[in-house]
Amino acid sequence: MLVFALSFAALLCVTAAWPALGGQGNHFTSEGESEVVRSAAIKRLLEVFGMEDPPAVHGHKQPPQYMLDLYNTVADVDGVTKDPNLLEGNIVRSFFDKLRSEQVEFKFNLSMVARTEKVLTAELHLFKLRPQASLTFSRHHFCQVSVYQLLDSGKTNSTQAKKLLSSRLIPVHSTGWEVFTVTQAVRSWMADEGSNLGLHVVVRTLGGSQTDLKVIRFASGRHHHLSKQPMLVLFTDDGRRSAELESTNPHEAIANSFLHQTPMSVKSSRTARSLDYGEEEGWSKPCQRLPLYVDFEEIGWSGWIVSPRGYNAYHCKGSCSFPLGQNMRPTNHATVQSIINALKLIRGIETPCCVPDKLFSINLLYFDDDENVVLKQYNDMVAGSCGCH
Ligand SMILES: *[C@@H]1O[C@H](CO)[C@@H](O)[C@H](O)[C@H]1NC(C)=O
Ligand SMILES: *[C@@H]1O[C@H](CO)[C@@H](O)[C@H](O)[C@H]1NC(C)=O
Repeated sequence: MLVFALSFAALLCVTAAWPALGGQGNHFTSEGESEVVRSAAIKRLLEVFGMEDPPAVHGHKQPPQYMLDLYNTVADVDGVTKDPNLLEGNIVRSFFDKLRSEQVEFKFNLSMVARTEKVLTAELHLFKLRPQASLTFSRHHFCQVSVYQLLDSGKTNSTQAKKLLSSRLIPVHSTGWEVFTVTQAVRSWMADEGSNLGLHVVVRTLGGSQTDLKVIRFASGRHHHLSKQPMLVLFTDDGRRSAELESTNPHEAIANSFLHQTPMSVKSSRTARSLDYGEEEGWSKPCQRLPLYVDFEEIGWSGWIVSPRGYNAYHCKGSCSFPLGQNMRPTNHATVQSIINALKLIRGIETPCCVPDKLFSINLLYFDDDENVVLKQYNDMVAGSCGCH
């Protein structure tokens, strides 16, 4: 029922919708037919989230802490974007190393990145382990860590062809995440998949000699805990944009729009929704924003979506009859239409529609088909306020 409500709310002007809904409602009474409609509706909803099929996720996996932290930075508990300027681009993808080599060599399978995605930044995240005791008396406090892109030695005719991507001094005794920019390499891999031979990390003393990697160590996928695995993080943009309505700060705007409405707790959205259905007949309140909770568990998507568990899309409902106050945020066109309607000058002119006039984006943190964790932003998913149009 949830999905139907969602698509109808989007398609139809609420004041005109209810009689039509009554007619079409009978359509869903037969069990088989309603199942057909249900799967068609869920397929359409997947398309809204940019997918053909729900990703296949086997068993329970722990998403990287970095991705969880990133999600919590850009999104509030409902998944609504806190500040549209926090994230450059609209997709962040994380990949674990596929090589699991003894050497400090890494390879990432980027087959899940769409061809339409523009790579803005790519980062190699390595977890530096505590150095071994033998190093305690070393006279050097820093080591130089360089990340190279491995090149096809057949093409360049040298034994160990590689290209320097990033190099930095790191305190010998530090532990924790180190991040290296490897954007150039990832862009070249995106252009030619076959050229992806991986990354190689070299640690040198300040004197320039290559140090024993048993002394200065990075966690590897093979020997260390999942939470310390080498990771590639891609910030990309797939060009989806329709943010004309998007305003400055969603939270400010939501707070403002609440001022014009009957107070209604966001937390009580589920109860509010069922009440709402009960009151369908004779609903004659002015145009306002009401809760509409989209529950991913109810839809059957809780297996692959990490966060949020659902979100409040809100919906707009109510009458737009004359006189339209400023709190109805009417367009001039809507004001005139409501006047013509009230004067009954012309037959068949309805009151204007109560529709979203400000929309916000939400964020989804999910597992893709290859079990990489992805953060994606979707525009125009939450009605920020309603108005008569
Ligand atoms: C990358 O992953 C895809 C999907 O899992 C797989 O079909 C492909 O063979 C992988 N490529 C490499 C080079 O391992
Ligand atoms: C590659 O190196 C070998 C030996 O150094 C040389 O004989 C050969 O001509 C080189 N090939 C190319 C394409 O440069």
